[in-house]
Amino acid sequence: MSFPASRPRRLRRTPTLRQMVRENHVLPSDLIAPLFVCEGEGIEVPISSLPGQFRFSVDRTVEAAKRLWEVGVPSVILFGIVSDKDEMGSGSYNAGGPVPRAIEAIKEALPSMVVIADTCACEYTSHGHCGILRGLSVDNDATLELLARAAVCYARAGADIIAPSDMMDGRVAAIRRALDNEGFVETPIMSYAAKFAGAFYGPFREAADSAPAFGDRRSYQMDIANRREALREMQLDIEEGADFLLIKPALFCLDLVRDARERFDAPLCVYNVSSEYAMIKAAGQMGWIDEERLIDETLISFKRAGADLIITYHALEWAQRFAQNV
Ligand code: PBG
Repeated sequence: MSFPASRPRRLRRTPTLRQMVRENHVLPSDLIAPLFVCEGEGIEVPISSLPGQFRFSVDRTVEAAKRLWEVGVPSVILFGIVSDKDEMGSGSYNAGGPVPRAIEAIKEALPSMVVIADTCACEYTSHGHCGILRGLSVDNDATLELLARAAVCYARAGADIIAPSDMMDGRVAAIRRALDNEGFVETPIMSYAAKFAGAFYGPFREAADSAPAFGDRRSYQMDIANRREALREMQLDIEEGADFLLIKPALFCLDLVRDARERFDAPLCVYNVSSEYAMIKAAGQMGWIDEERLIDETLISFKRAGADLIITYHALEWAQRFAQNV
C-alpha cells in the first residue's frame, strides 16, 4: 500500500503515539561505566581530554561506583594507571596494583555490582604496546601467557568479567584455559573481538598514559576498512569461548553491530570510545550542539543497530538525568 492509503506520519502525530511506537529504548541497566584507577589515596584528578572523567585512587573509585549504582548503572570496567612500568608489563598481574585492589574494594562495598577487568598490557609496559616485544613487534604467543596471568589475578580479586582488549590471536582460548585451571569456570569473558586501530583512542591514551612509545598498533588492531575480517574475528572468539562480543569503536562501526546482531546470539556490547565522547563534550562546550540530546541520540543509535550493552563515559551523567525524568 502506498500514499495516500499509507501515511507514516499518522503514527508521529502526538508525543504519546510516538512513545508507543518507539522501537528501542536505553535503560541505565544497559550501561557500563569506564573508570581509571590510580595509586594513592584521596586522589581525584580531572582528565583534561575527557571532561567530567577522573583518575581516581581506589577509595575514590569506590565512591564513583556507588554514585553509578545509585542511579541504576550496574557495571563498571576498570583501567589501571601505574607509575612503575617495565618491558614485560608485569604490573598487569600485580595483585597489589590499583585494579585488583579496586575490584576487591568495589565488590566489598557493592557485592551486586558487576566489575569488569579490562585485560591488556599497554597500561603496564614501558613501551606502551599491548604485549611483550620481540624486536620492534609484539610477540603474540608470549603475550598470551601474560594476559592469562593478568586474567587470573583479576578473577582472584573478584572480577565478575574478564575483558581482553589486546587483539592477540588466541587470547580468548588462552584466558579461558587459565581461568578454568584455577577454578574460575564461572567467570565469563567479554572479548574485544573487533577492535580497530586508529585515532579513536587518543583521549583514553592520555588518560591511561598508554600511548605507544614508538610505532602504532596496526600490527595487532584491525584496519578500519575491513568488515569481513571483523566478522571472522568475532567468529573465532565465539569458537574460543567468548561469552560476550564487544565492538570498538562504536559510532564508527554501527554496520558491524548490525552484522554481528544478525549472525551471533551472544550478548553484544559496544565501546563508545574516548574520542566519540570528547567530540560531543568539545562541541557542547562551544555551544555548537545540544549536548544532552546528542548524547541521547548517540546511545539510542547503538540499541537500534543491535547492541545490548554500551560502555560509555556518558553513563553517570545520562543515568542521573534518566533518574530525574522517571
Ligand atoms: C587498552 C584499551 C584501549 C582502550 C580500551 N582498552 C586503548 C588502546 O587500545 O589504545 C580505548 C578506550 C577509549 O578510547 O575510550 N588496550
